[in-house]
Amino acid sequence: MGDMRHFRVWRGDETGGALEDFTVEVNEGEVVLDVIHRLQAEQAPDLAVRWNCKAGKCGSCSMEINGRPRLGCMTRMSTFSGAETVTITPLRTFPVIRDLVTDVSFNYAKARTMPAFAPPAGLAPGEYRMAQVDVERSQEFRKCIECFLCQNTCHVVRDHEDNKLAFAGPRLFIRAAELDMHPLDARTDRKEYAQADQGLGYCNITKCCTEVCPEHIKITDNAIIPMKERVVDRRYDPLVRLGRRIFRRDQLEGQMGNGSSTGGHEVAGASWHRPEPAPQGPPVGPDGRLDIAELASDRAAASSPFGDDVQFPLPPESLHYEHPTAPEEDPEEH
Ligand code: SF4
Ligand code: SF4
Ligand code: FES
Repeated sequence: MGDMRHFRVWRGDETGGALEDFTVEVNEGEVVLDVIHRLQAEQAPDLAVRWNCKAGKCGSCSMEINGRPRLGCMTRMSTFSGAETVTITPLRTFPVIRDLVTDVSFNYAKARTMPAFAPPAGLAPGEYRMAQVDVERSQEFRKCIECFLCQNTCHVVRDHEDNKLAFAGPRLFIRAAELDMHPLDARTDRKEYAQADQGLGYCNITKCCTEVCPEHIKITDNAIIPMKERVVDRRYDPLVRLGRRIFRRDQLEGQMGNGSSTGGHEVAGASWHRPEPAPQGPPVGPDGRLDIAELASDRAAASSPFGDDVQFPLPPESLHYEHPTAPEEDPEEH
């Protein structure tokens, strides 16, 4: 028998709710998610919580514990003193669906507006080669588990619903930086896009996002600040300034968006405000269970990004280790 500890858990939905008090058994080595599961099993079977891996890798169990954004499965109960009340609330920045589950579709809508990786023309799938030093630079950003704790923490949107239209948030800034630093990405307007369409300028480098990242990604130092510096470099480049004098600003912005602009920051079909429309669950069969088609598929996963006809390992004659040269930038474009 473990210790009996005091918890306050937010219960409710988009129409409102309140903190409820519970006393729950806690055993040595347990994390907050263990306690929530015991609460579900013994006292509150309808308590809603999102989780999947219980290993800090799926990013599902994001919540606020004593006011701090954290992963429930990675927060040890030994963090708190025995007499301390542990208060568990849903992420504040996103609309509540029920109890501890929030609607994080804001992040997916923003991700859909991000121009995709653009490999150089003429380089066939399977021929991409990168130097190890370049791999390591973007590797840090690829560790992101999309827990959205950074998005939840950022003050630009945390208490300012109106800013959500114009601001993509730190998770998307690291994606922009990753692609901008990618030696095989042929787009040259990532910085301008981040500034004009993703609201990079709203960020005032408070580093709160970095502090809560469970993957210890240096969001501010390694992604946001370099991107801001690149925006400034480009803006005050003498050739760019000359170009600005020659061309009208609206012409430049038209070219800069290159068809990928969200057009006034609107994201088609997105709604981050409750109650419309309610998120839909996955389709289930007549027995109320999830379709097993995916499990029964003969494919282990989605199509290969290299093309389904590419065999690995590649035959030696199709390997080459030359770095593609970046296309020459035309200063008159900026
Ligand atoms: S550093 Fe920028 S993105 Fe990160 S929390 Fe602060 S304002 Fe938001
Ligand atoms: S950058 Fe860190 S905090 Fe933000 S979504 Fe990714 S893992 Fe979570
Ligand atoms: S359950 Fe997957 S990160 Fe917590």
